[in-house]
Amino acid sequence: MTEYNEVLHDEDDDFILDIDGLKVYFELRKRGFQHAGFVQAVDGVDLKLRRGETIAIVGESGCGKTSLMKTILRINTPTDGTITFDGEIINDLKSKKLKNLRRKIGFVQQDPYGALAPFMDVQTILEEPLKINGVKNRKDRIERVRQVLEEVRMTPVDDFLRKFPHQLSGGQQQRVVIARAMILSPILLVADEPVSMLDASVRVEILKLLRTLQEEHNLAVIYITHDLATVRYFSEYIYVMYAGQVIEKAPESQLINETAHPYSRALLAATSDPDPKNVDEFQDVPAGEPPSLVTPPAGCRFHPRCESIIQGTCDLERPPEFDLGNRHTVSCWLFQDRPIVRDFSKDLE
Ligand SMILES: Nc1ncnc2c1ncn2[C@@H]1O[C@H](COP(=O)(O)OP(=O)(O)OP(=O)(O)O)[C@@H](O)[C@H]1O
Ligand SMILES: [Mg+2]
Repeated sequence: MTEYNEVLHDEDDDFILDIDGLKVYFELRKRGFQHAGFVQAVDGVDLKLRRGETIAIVGESGCGKTSLMKTILRINTPTDGTITFDGEIINDLKSKKLKNLRRKIGFVQQDPYGALAPFMDVQTILEEPLKINGVKNRKDRIERVRQVLEEVRMTPVDDFLRKFPHQLSGGQQQRVVIARAMILSPILLVADEPVSMLDASVRVEILKLLRTLQEEHNLAVIYITHDLATVRYFSEYIYVMYAGQVIEKAPESQLINETAHPYSRALLAATSDPDPKNVDEFQDVPAGEPPSLVTPPAGCRFHPRCESIIQGTCDLERPPEFDLGNRHTVSCWLFQDRPIVRDFSKDLE
């Protein structure tokens, strides 16, 4: 949409990723002859990422963050909408082109403990992607493994090459996972809850490492978290997701200081301590449960939990995206006096 571009982006922006109207639905198993429906895990998401930019996607458990990321990697297939990555529409990529896509995207997946094969040592784990991608010379592979271990600060490297995952601390295991994500020199790094399973004391170190790698390689990074406190240390731009949809987005300080959506405000109130060292666990707020993604509420999906609900509006129609200026938009009827940048009613057909 030109309108949308004009408000949020400059003409010469160089996007590495451009997601437009993405839907990712999972079909539920049929009960007898009856169609059981779909889980609408991602439902009409737009997202743009420049080369070298760091964004965060924030939202409660089950709001569709991992589903969205797995679709960018084409582990999931888009149901609708388009994903353009590095100049190419990737919706229908197959075999060789798919392998090429995954080479350009480093993925730090959600569960670091399940991410490393327990019977492989660090060197074997890190050599594997190189082998799969045609680095035939063993000396070349080992040289690259050593280089990337240096980069994730696992030094002296010789102390770690022959270690198995169980001989490493949680933080060291996560460094290996990050090393593996970096080994093929990706242009985009997706980090899905990279610190949520770690002790509070090592969270900051891992976040700093990701920041350093991002700067050294001019990487684009998508940082996924349910914890707004860690976002403040990391991302330039924040997307807040609720029940499969982006409900607010803004540059980091703008989102923190001028929080607009009632859901974002509640999420922010839950993370009262800005220092990730002191944030032990995510408090489950706001009150109430996120809705079913099989039969989501009509209108704004947050309306059943919202204290500022406008009856007869919020419960009937999905709010468009309203422009608040400074690259800040919100999908909430409380801001209906602002200009519309994206009208979702046209997506319904
Ligand atoms: N392969 C699948 N088949 C069916 N449903 C799925 C599948 N993957 C995810 N879902 C459902 O999609 C919804 C979104 O899940 P997703 O894992 O994307 O959320 P999330 O935001 O990453 O949550 P968390 O913070 O807990 O990791 C959930 O209801 C989940 O059960
Ligand atoms: Mg997830």
